[in-house]
Amino acid sequence: MKNLDWSNLSFGYIKTDWNVRCWFKNGAWGPIEESDSEFFPIHIAASSLHYGQEAFEGLKAFRGKDGKVRIFRMEANAERLQSTCRATLMPELPTETFCAMVKKVVELNKDFIPPYESGASLYIRPLIIGTGITVGVKPADEYLAVIFVTPVGPYFKGGFSVNPYALVRSYDRSAPLGMGKYKVGGNYAASLYANRIAHEKGYCSEFYLDAKEKKYIDECGAANFIGIKQGTYVTPKSDSILPSITNKSLMQLAKDNGMKVEQRQIPLEELLEMDEAGACGTAAVISPIERIDDIELGKSYVIAKDGKPGPVLTKLYNQLRAIQYGDVADPHNWVTVLDF
Ligand code: PLP
Ligand code: COI
Repeated sequence: MKNLDWSNLSFGYIKTDWNVRCWFKNGAWGPIEESDSEFFPIHIAASSLHYGQEAFEGLKAFRGKDGKVRIFRMEANAERLQSTCRATLMPELPTETFCAMVKKVVELNKDFIPPYESGASLYIRPLIIGTGITVGVKPADEYLAVIFVTPVGPYFKGGFSVNPYALVRSYDRSAPLGMGKYKVGGNYAASLYANRIAHEKGYCSEFYLDAKEKKYIDECGAANFIGIKQGTYVTPKSDSILPSITNKSLMQLAKDNGMKVEQRQIPLEELLEMDEAGACGTAAVISPIERIDDIELGKSYVIAKDGKPGPVLTKLYNQLRAIQYGDVADPHNWVTVLDF
């Protein structure tokens, strides 16, 4: 194992030894290649550079107490990547190839998988980019799939603790019939400005309402919203948010716990009736929300009145982490165990 300060990792990039690649040329995906370079040459007229023809993913591998390594919901990420490829007219990377690439890159970098005790994990970042030459707006004829990994700690400093969010009314990350439900880089480019405003004002992230009516909760920056209202798990139904794999997993665990789960439009004002709220995603699992400030209308929706994460989200967070690290059984077959 590498000699890193495992317990103090942040959510950033650390160079590892290997990445894996697969080229799509002449209408077919080629063999999986291993590379020890962090770079690849790219044509100046590649479609990804000019027209944003690209897709990415994010998933994690965890080292358990038993020393085994577990990858969380790899097939679900493969399927979501395929849906982004369909939406951007890129060739779909077959699930089998995606999973083989993920397993290979994790194994090649096994010395970078943080130890169990650190509470850190190995973030896996798949990327597909159009590399073929396009000057007119059209899809490329060549693509590169790359997967790299990097050891990461908590997404937000302080880990599982409450954070304030800034509701931004003058910015949308995606349009109602646009690309919000896909993981394309353009959505993140569109969020940078609002994200900067939120950070400059001392918030952990920006918070979006639906772009059409500005009435319903959409997303918490790069994470889905979850509310707990009288013991019911409530999360937005929207065509402009990413279908979060963490959210789907938490909904299942909530049902397993006997909770009612509602996926529906959530009017902003309903925040006042929420006992707990959180942002969820691979990076943080759940990041509990302290309050949401409508920075343009000057109204504050305080959720965590005592400044602490609530009991329901704390329980769900612990349950999901326990499955990911292999502390408990995996009743839904979410985990791929690697034993090397
Ligand atoms: N929403 C957005 C915009 C995201 O970028 C992410 C992160 O991937 C999520 C939600 C959470 O999705 P997941 O739980 O699949 O990581
Ligand atoms: C998440 O994993 O929750 C994210 O939002 C990933 C982000 C770094 C794009």
